[in-house]
Amino acid sequence: MLKVLAIETSCDETSVSIVSNSGDIYKIHSNIVASQIEDHSKWGGVVPELAARKHLELIPFVLEQAVKESKMSIEEIDVIASTVTPGLVGCLRVGSITARALCTLYSKPFMGVHHLEGHLSSILFSKNYPKTPFLTLLVSGGHTELIKVGDQRKMKRLGRSYDDAAGEAFDKVGRLLGLGYPGGPAIEKIAKEGNASKFNLPKCKISDKKGGFLKYDFSFSGLKTAVLRLVEKINLDGDEIPIPDIAASFERVVAEVLVERTIRCAIDNSLNNIVVVGGVAANDTLRKMMIYEASEKSIKVHLAPISLCTDNAAMIGAAALFRLKSRPHESSLKLGISARLPIDQANTLYEKKPPF
Ligand code: KG4
Ligand code: ZN
Repeated sequence: MLKVLAIETSCDETSVSIVSNSGDIYKIHSNIVASQIEDHSKWGGVVPELAARKHLELIPFVLEQAVKESKMSIEEIDVIASTVTPGLVGCLRVGSITARALCTLYSKPFMGVHHLEGHLSSILFSKNYPKTPFLTLLVSGGHTELIKVGDQRKMKRLGRSYDDAAGEAFDKVGRLLGLGYPGGPAIEKIAKEGNASKFNLPKCKISDKKGGFLKYDFSFSGLKTAVLRLVEKINLDGDEIPIPDIAASFERVVAEVLVERTIRCAIDNSLNNIVVVGGVAANDTLRKMMIYEASEKSIKVHLAPISLCTDNAAMIGAAALFRLKSRPHESSLKLGISARLPIDQANTLYEKKPPF
């Protein structure tokens, strides 16, 4: 049994987890997530400097609680991992320095983990996760990507958002409708009382050079603007804003766009399994629509457990364990942090000469 202590601080959750695997069974021994949502909600979104300061305050206590709850000691751990990219640099620095300090103190190997590889590894905690190759729809607050996952963690991005991520659109529309931050869960809640067919909102596409459209790519900023124009018009007419109907119509369009393009991409690339991960993957409308539409095409859908959709350290630990399963992986203690690194370059985190 291999045991990993993992740290996640790339955005506004301070999280430490201890996970293990034996064979294909992945187990969470502890997964402490200290959310900073309350600190950021009054500002309507994540304030990077505030988030970094909060991580510094919280990390000793989150670490202590995670170790205590796991009933293990750090001496028993095989590898210490932390998210090193992508994310807010001030935030990533806190997790990475904590992990590397522990590695030095306890003479443990260090693994820097790509945050998106963490999200796609959250599926390892669900029963019957698929064998490679499969298509992953990664939908979070920072990313909307379609990633083909092959053997040996070979990853190829087949689609992406050219502007806002789907979660970002939920957050911006949530703010616009006065629902607070984060917008996703608030929109999902109020949408339950609304009519999803009430408003016809646009499914924005990205044009290609030949006069057609990029089939697997996304754009959500036009949708957000369409909601803004709709609200402005209703205000001008002096009518009451039908918040539940707008929320439900918006949620339906986002889910339809994500489902249609993901299934198109899976069919065109002969992939029979779709994995859905990331914060927006917690959305019930998206989950149900994806399962229904994919089953019509005989494609199997694998959804991340709801509790592991938003940021947490257990998924970072799973990413490290999955790599360790096939061969030893270790990052240089000189590995820094970076706001950006494409997912298909995640392998470079384990090279002798670090990419950053
Ligand atoms: O994965 P995550 O915790 O952070 C990033 O890596 O970005 O995702 C957070 C995002 C936020 O934009 C939030 O509004 C969205 O996920 N989200 C949801 C739901 N729960 C969280 N969006 C739609 N429906 C939900 N139930
Ligand atoms: Zn995330």
